[in-house]
Order: sequence, then structure tokens, then C-alpha cells
Amino acid sequence: MSIRKPLPHDSAPLHVTGRARYVDDIPVPAGCLHLAFGLSDVARGVITRADLSAVRRAPGVVDVLKPLDLPGDNDISAAAHDEPLLAMGEVFYHGQPIFLVVAESHRAARKAARLGKITIDPRPAILTIDDALAAGSHFEGGPITWEDGDVEAALAAAPHRLEGEIEIGGQEHFYLEGHAALALPQDDGAMLVHASTQHPSEIQHKVAEALGVPMHKVRVETRRMGGGFGGKESQGNALAIACAVAAARTGRPCKMRYDRDDDMVITGKRHDFRIRYRVGYDDSGRLLGVDFTHLVRCGWSADLSLPVADRAMLHAGNAYDIPAVRIESHRLRTHTASATAFRGFGGPQGMLGIERVMDHVAHALGKDPAELRRLNFHSGDPARPTRTHYGQKVEDFALHEMVPALLERAGYDARKAAIARWNAENSVLKRGLGFNPVMFGISFTLSHLNQAGALVHIYQDGSVHLNHGGTEMGQGLNQKVAQVAASVLGVGLESVQITATDTAKVPNTSATAASSGSDLNGMAVKAACDKLKGRLSRFLANRWGVKPARIVFEGGEVHAGRKHMPFAEAARLAYEARISLSATGFYRTPRLSWDRAAGRGRPFYYFAYGVGLTEVAVDTLTGEYRILRTDLLHDAGASLNPALDIGQVEGAYVQGAGWLTTEELVWDDAGRLRTHAPSTYKIPACADRPDIFNVTLWDGENREPTIFRSKAVGEPPLMLGISAFLALSDAVSACGSAYPALDAPATPERVLAAIRRVQA
Ligand code: MTE
Ligand code: MOS
Repeated sequence: MSIRKPLPHDSAPLHVTGRARYVDDIPVPAGCLHLAFGLSDVARGVITRADLSAVRRAPGVVDVLKPLDLPGDNDISAAAHDEPLLAMGEVFYHGQPIFLVVAESHRAARKAARLGKITIDPRPAILTIDDALAAGSHFEGGPITWEDGDVEAALAAAPHRLEGEIEIGGQEHFYLEGHAALALPQDDGAMLVHASTQHPSEIQHKVAEALGVPMHKVRVETRRMGGGFGGKESQGNALAIACAVAAARTGRPCKMRYDRDDDMVITGKRHDFRIRYRVGYDDSGRLLGVDFTHLVRCGWSADLSLPVADRAMLHAGNAYDIPAVRIESHRLRTHTASATAFRGFGGPQGMLGIERVMDHVAHALGKDPAELRRLNFHSGDPARPTRTHYGQKVEDFALHEMVPALLERAGYDARKAAIARWNAENSVLKRGLGFNPVMFGISFTLSHLNQAGALVHIYQDGSVHLNHGGTEMGQGLNQKVAQVAASVLGVGLESVQITATDTAKVPNTSATAASSGSDLNGMAVKAACDKLKGRLSRFLANRWGVKPARIVFEGGEVHAGRKHMPFAEAARLAYEARISLSATGFYRTPRLSWDRAAGRGRPFYYFAYGVGLTEVAVDTLTGEYRILRTDLLHDAGASLNPALDIGQVEGAYVQGAGWLTTEELVWDDAGRLRTHAPSTYKIPACADRPDIFNVTLWDGENREPTIFRSKAVGEPPLMLGISAFLALSDAVSACGSAYPALDAPATPERVLAAIRRVQA
């Protein structure tokens, strides 16, 4: 069996030798044209004149498109129908595409795109959370509120109360491969699109609407992405649609890729939040009630902001059983790039809110922060499970066991004492420890998305062609799913060919998102392989005169008692006996029910758990810091592939820590993003990883019958990065007695300012 083996990523040799093909590496046919957008240099205004004559005259330019040149729907939005491909008379953010240049080369297109003379009559732009609040600029007409218990009564009756606020910055995805698409016109008005996307079916859908053709005319193929991180759920639509429209008009292949600066300016990022809290608690540190206000900066269009803001609300209680919780969520429309999905999908922001509250309460009571958290955990008693603030029973709670396991392994008590001694003796370098648990809900909250399909062929030589609806973005989904197929069919992994995601093979797929890739597609592939195995079993049982149930597929062989033959021979014989060797598989997640308006139900099939402990050292003269040591324990259920899962946990932690420490997005007063290249936007580099980095997987299995009892792992460990932020706050605390009230990202500048505050 190849499941549970720590195998490397299937494309690892291709990745490290540069032979893995991304969209931009696909050899293009002769006559391929290249595209670039002309962008708005104003955040909000009315287009009064668009003189594109210089663009048309520029060398190599073949065509220039304005909105009225589009044959079908001028819309790239995921659902809300509020996002034109090319601005229609008005612009809503700095960097919004206004016109499209089609040229003989990538350079020619980009150079020509700068020559447009667009006159825009500027209007007051709503840029910040405060601007949006003042203008009452909300999606959905106003805030959404969920309340569980009576929060005002709980706060009034609580022996202690606290309140505070935290700013949480956004985050650029910084996938190493930028957005790219290639459209190839086919016979009879059909279009083949290669796209770097997490959501080929949505590209197919949107391209069909833009061309004014049925979906069956459009085929979308995605072999792999060089990272997506949520940034390629919806943000690839624009390029794919632009390529398809230009290809249909010119009859020539069309390709588009954003250069890094354009990618950063045009596409959406993680939502920045401001979270206000009021909390009531008793002497022991038990929380009695908490009231959150989430102010969410969504940007100019809806995109995925509403479900992102919902998920922030769903994770506002993290792992804690709090008697009364109220969350008021303001989804604010601003004239900035439309914020979008990013690993965790709002969960990280919601979770940071409650982790900040825990930290603040622990500081106020002088209690151990880890102890305080444990005191507030869900019961974990399967006989009497406590419920989340949205009413879901917590039946699989693992943190009561995971927390002591991690703290013991990491030497928490001794290190905490050593750090206290160090801080007492040293005035310049201060050290800090940060701890946080993670309880992340697994499933799309839009219940119908929790479905997947697969297509598996066995050829007459016994080799297997594997296809499913998920996309590969580096997370190792294809390898895990191939391990499932190989294990079910009892063949070696080398017998299974991984193939590109293709809307013509598996239709109506969901985005590979919400960490559900292997849960959904693994089950669909298993269903397809089980069908094939059933057919082969019945055929061989008949031939051998045994019961089908006695047929075993193992080690590249099929056997029943002493009778056996190679899998390849079974395939050949079945083919000759005219048995179908091709099967589809389908899966839908059971047990889901969710009333979004009421904020009640069972939106998640199960939870994934994790615990993180980070130690930092801070230079109190400059605010600079280092992560000295990180210990993580993460629950991936019965892991399908521990090597890939540990890679996911390490990468997610570093990305989460980056979000909360060095990655700072800065917009100026005119709404221009000033941090649009790696020179000014600092993602963690190799040297920023913790000096000591201990990552282990929790030894447990999913309580629910997921694929081989594994758990989704893509997003949850990102939130272990919160421990890095809390460690910085702890180190700052050592400089004085006040609570540091650090905002995120905790850049060295912010850390230094916080040190000055607590010293004052
Ligand atoms: N890992 C890598 N290497 N690259 C990525 O782009 N995306 C993350 C996570 N891990 C990502 C990644 C996000 S946002 C999600 S939702 C999941 O992978 C999606 O894949 P899965 O459902 O197969 O885990
Ligand atoms: Mo991940 S943010 O769900 O693509």
C-alpha cells in the first residue's frame, strides 16, 4: 500500500530541475498573440475620455479592446456579477483594467498599454475602514450579527471586564508563478484554455459567458500552479476571459501573464480587519462573554468577501467554549483591489481576534497563557459535547491531549522560567514565548460545493490513467490521490499516471480550496477505483470459480487463494472479454446543514486541530527580532502522506508568521499600492525560518469516515503562525507592565513603538 508512506511530491524532480511545465512554459503554436491591460491610475472616478490612438499605432499592436468590443458578458466575478473585465465608464480602484492590448509579443503589449490617454474625473475615494464606516459603505446593506447567549447580560454580570482593539493587515499571496492563461481557438467555435487556476470549472463558465457560447464549447486545462494560496480561486478569471475573447476575435492563440508588479496591483489580497472586543471573565480566567466587532475591508467588488467574512465569524471562538458570544461583522466596500481568498479564508483573522483576547486576559490576571486557554477549551467529552457559538457539537476535540503533549515535548515550563530569568537580567535583548491552539472547520460553508468527481481508466497493459476535479498548486494533492488509486487497485505508484485537471474529463468541479482537495477528490477517486475493482473481481471470480469477495488486489497482482495473475494480465483479459475499464467516481460530503442568515447549524464535517509554541528574541533598541525556536504539533488525522503533510505544516506556519510579522501592505492617500514588488514587500526568506523548527503530526485518525481517515491539512496550520505574533507581544511585555496591544503585522517599527508604549 502506498498510502501513509512519506513519499516526495510527484513533481519534486521536475520542480527542482526547472522542468515542471507551468502555463508560461507550454510551447505555443505559431502566430500566438500576447495581451496586456491598460490600468486606471486613479482609485475612483468617471472616465471622460479614452484616447487609445497611440496604443493602436504602437509597434506590434494587433488589436485594442474596450468594453463595447466584448462579444458576450463583460463580467469576471465569481458570483455577484459586479466586476467588469474592462471598466465601464467608471473606475473603482487604482490598477483596475480599462482596456486590453493584443500584440505580437509580451513586451510590445506591455509597452503599448502604457500609451493610453485616459482622462478620469476623480471622485472621492473610500480607501480605509474608517472612510467606509463614515460613508456607510457596506455590502449587504449593513452589518451581519450572530449572537449566541445574552452577551450584554454576561458582560454586566462578569467579575472582570476588558476591552481592546487590534488592526490586522492583509497579505499578498506571492505565489512564485504569477497569473497566466493561454487560449487556443479550436474547430467550430470551441476554445481550449490553459490557466493557472484553482478553479477550472469557473474559468470554463465565465469564458463561456464572455464568448456567449454554451459551456460545452469551452475546455479548461490546468496541469499545475506555482502556488495559488487562494489567490487563484477567482483572480485568474480576468486573464482567461481576456485571452479567450481576443483569441475568438483574431482566430489566433492568445496568451497573457501579469508581471509581478501588475499582479500585485491588479489582484486581490487577504482581507485586512480591525477587530474590537469586549470581554467578561472571572477570577480563574474563565471567559463568560465576548463581544466582537469585525471591520472587514473588502475592496471594490464582492468577490469572495462574504464567505470570507462568514468564516472569520465562524472562527471567532476558536477552540473555546464561551457561554455568550456576539459578533457583528461589517463587510466594507472600499475603492481598493477586491480582497479575496487567502489560505484560511477569514479564519485566521477571526482566530487572531480571540487569541488576542486570551492573551489580554492572561496578562491582566497574570496567568499562564497556555493554562488560561486550556481552562476555556471545549469539553472534549464525546458523551456531553459542548457546542460552538454557531451551534455545532464539538465531537472530535483533540486539544486536551495535544496541548500537554506539545508543551512537554517543547520543555515549556523550564523554558518559560529560563526566559523569565533572562528577561530579568537583560535589558536590551528580551525573549518571549507565544502559544496558541487551532481548531479549524473543514468543509465549504456553501454546502453544495462539497462534491467532487473523478475519472479513472485502466488500459489493456494494466497502466492506470488518473483524473479528478482537484488542482495541483504545490500542496501535493495529485500525489496523495495517486496513492489512493494505487492502494485501492493494489498496484505500484508507477502504474498510475497523474494527468492535468480538465473540465472535459470531470465536469462541474469546485475550486480546490477550503483544504478539501484530498478529502473530496480522494473519495471520488476511491469510488471510481472501487467500481473498476468490482468489475474485475466479478470477471475473475467467474473465471476462477470463486466468490468475488475473495478476490484481492495487492502488490501488482490479483489473487484468490492460490490462484493469481499480474494486474496487467487481468486488465488484458478483461479487455478481451469486453469489460469496461473506465469509470467515473463521485463523492459528496455527508452530515452538513447550515443556515447562514441565522448563523446556526453544522457547517463543518469535522475539525482539524493544531498547537504551536514559538520563542522569539527582540532587540529593544531597534525592534528587530528573530524566531529562535518553534514547536508544532498538528492533526492531519491518519495522514495519507506524512512527508507532504509536514511540508504543508511547515510552509503554512512560515506563511502565517510572515503575515503577522514582516509582510506589510501599504496604500498611499491616493489609493495606490506602494508595496508592489519584493523590494518593498517582505515575505519570509529561508533565513527567516525558525532556527529550531520541530514539526510533528498528531497520531490520531479522523472520527469521520474520510478518505482513509485522514484530515485536510492545507490551511489549518497557517494559524499556528499566530504563536509567533504572540511571542513578540510577550517579549514586548517584558519591557514594562502595560499590555502591549501590538497590531499586525508586527514589523520591527511596530514592535519598537509597542516597546516605547509599555516603557512609558
Ligand atoms: N501549498 C502549496 N505548496 N501551495 C499552495 O498554493 N494553497 C493552500 C494549501 N497549501 C497552497 C498550499 C490553500 S489556500 C489551500 S485551500 C489548500 O492548499 C488547497 O489544497 P488542498 O485542498 O488539496 O489541501
Ligand atoms: Mo484556499 S484560501 O481555500 O484556496
